Amino acid sequence: MIGVIFVCLGNICRSPMAEAIFKRLAEEEGVADCLDISSFATSDCEVGNPIYPPAQRQLREMGYNFSHRAQKLTFSDIKNADYILVMDNMNYDDVCRMAGGGYCSKVFKLGSFLQDQIEIADPWYTCDFARAYREIYSACKVFLHYLETKHAKAFAYGKHVRADEDNDDDNDGDKDEDKD
Ligand code: 4NP
Repeated sequence: MIGVIFVCLGNICRSPMAEAIFKRLAEEEGVADCLDISSFATSDCEVGNPIYPPAQRQLREMGYNFSHRAQKLTFSDIKNADYILVMDNMNYDDVCRMAGGGYCSKVFKLGSFLQDQIEIADPWYTCDFARAYREIYSACKVFLHYLETKHAKAFAYGKHVRADEDNDDDNDGDKDEDKD
């Protein structure tokens, strides 16, 4: 299982949008079972709150289902994750500070997967939720392909195991080739 966490300031706009988008992309690619995907805030200002209503509307418009409450990132979340995707330079600095100088090699700016290497502008301030969706969606697609290339064996194994399970009609865990 590869642990992927998305991080922004409040965990009510950009990172939960990224979580919902990335979960759906992973399902569409058939690799969702290989990934543990969640999202967090660097601050505690919105902890316990649902996704900001305009961000919810944007996601619903694009056909997403979600259930989320804002949660603050902890040191153990940082330690346990394999990939930490932040939205902007401030998030990057905050996560590295919370990590106490370690683990910075697994922190990536989500926008760095886009050609123009942007920060994902905060729609809490810009009010442009459609733009945030477009940027996050495009970057998530590139990031997923990056993971699929880098962890090709793990993804292929996940798919293989699921295929075996699907074909195991008597559900006893035996493989056909093991039988006489
Ligand atoms: P987010 O946006 O980091 O994309 O979730 C924000 C949401 C709330 C606040 C700031 C940014 N706030 O100050 O409450």
